[in-house]
Amino acid sequence: MIRINEHFLKLQASYLFANIAKRVEEYQVRHPEKEMIRLGIGDVTHALPPACIAALHQAVDEMAREDAFRGYGPEQGYAFLREAIARHDFQSRGADVDADEIFVSDGAKCDTGNIQELFATDIRVAVPDPVYPVYVDTNVMAGRTGLYQDGGYEGLVYLACTEANGYIPQLPAEPVDLIYLCFPNNPTGATITREQLQTWVDYARAHKALILYDAAYEAFIRDDRLPRSIYEVAGAREVAIEFRSFSKTAGFTGTRCAYTVVPKACTAYGHDGRPVAVRDLWNRRHATKFNGVSYPVQRAAEAVYSPEGQAQVKQLADGYLKNAAFVRRAFSAMGFDCVGGDNSPYVWINGRRDSWAFFDLLLDKAGVVCTPGAGFGRCGQTYIRISGFNSFANVQKAMTRIQAALQ
Ligand code: MLT
Repeated sequence: MIRINEHFLKLQASYLFANIAKRVEEYQVRHPEKEMIRLGIGDVTHALPPACIAALHQAVDEMAREDAFRGYGPEQGYAFLREAIARHDFQSRGADVDADEIFVSDGAKCDTGNIQELFATDIRVAVPDPVYPVYVDTNVMAGRTGLYQDGGYEGLVYLACTEANGYIPQLPAEPVDLIYLCFPNNPTGATITREQLQTWVDYARAHKALILYDAAYEAFIRDDRLPRSIYEVAGAREVAIEFRSFSKTAGFTGTRCAYTVVPKACTAYGHDGRPVAVRDLWNRRHATKFNGVSYPVQRAAEAVYSPEGQAQVKQLADGYLKNAAFVRRAFSAMGFDCVGGDNSPYVWINGRRDSWAFFDLLLDKAGVVCTPGAGFGRCGQTYIRISGFNSFANVQKAMTRIQAALQ
């Protein structure tokens, strides 16, 4: 008799963004005349930067020539991309990261979801609340939690991120082994200072814990005092893994390219306390389960680091930031408390009412899709998240409609 992994049955019926897409689709079937503006899922809307398109075309042409064709590439990514990443994203900012510590993949969602396979099932896991649901659901699947009760899973340590703590989690009162942090944060848009991040690195070092640092939105940081990488903080190499993505940086949500940094010094422990290099485990896993990102896509990602590419991706991010700032100003002017929208494409708005009710109201009365905060955890019950990923014209139109709907 083939038996299932019972832990899957603990999961909520569907993944948050699939659930929202279904609700919007059903609404659209009932109201085909309504024009929707989608500010829900953080999916980019602008075309790929010209530098990436040129590199893609050239790489596709190479694949058509017998003398330039490439079959399987290195599972970890081509050296040309790993070296460009190490130089531009880390070494140029004084962060000590080598090319052979970078693992190119098809997405930060996959990597943040897959990484937990390396760790024991009886470790204590801490997640922020609100939280990107992938961190939680993948630990549920692995059996690290109990049942879902009152908006959370038993056995997980939820770190509240609220107005009271400036949406920055406090160190846990009980010891934890694996800590998920995300800055600029999804969903709140909050950012962390170097000093605040240092307290987390110090905690991890003191407790032999590990931080999974999701920096998928670092390209939106404009305040130079803020760290873009956890490796800008002293002592992080031993206790942190960092996830980055070209999705939001360069418009690759449909093209798929990301990377994970696992420093050689990063350490976890065997059951007898012996230290084990996490990089070797991840390398083993990656080589076993993954055949690498396609050659043309890696060339397109490399083009992000050319001078033209850098200017073009900055322009893309600036556009989305302008939208997010506009959303924040509009909601603040209506009297709502907001966070994010300055160094982040997301704005987190306290609607002071049930978040699904607010979602339904905006959908029905304004034709605007947002993300209900409850989908990210208990601390999101009265919040909605609005994303800046759309055209400025659509964002303006959406805010005008929302102002009219809330009058
Ligand atoms: C989001 O809307 O939170 C993101 O688009 C989800 C993702 O990147 O997977």
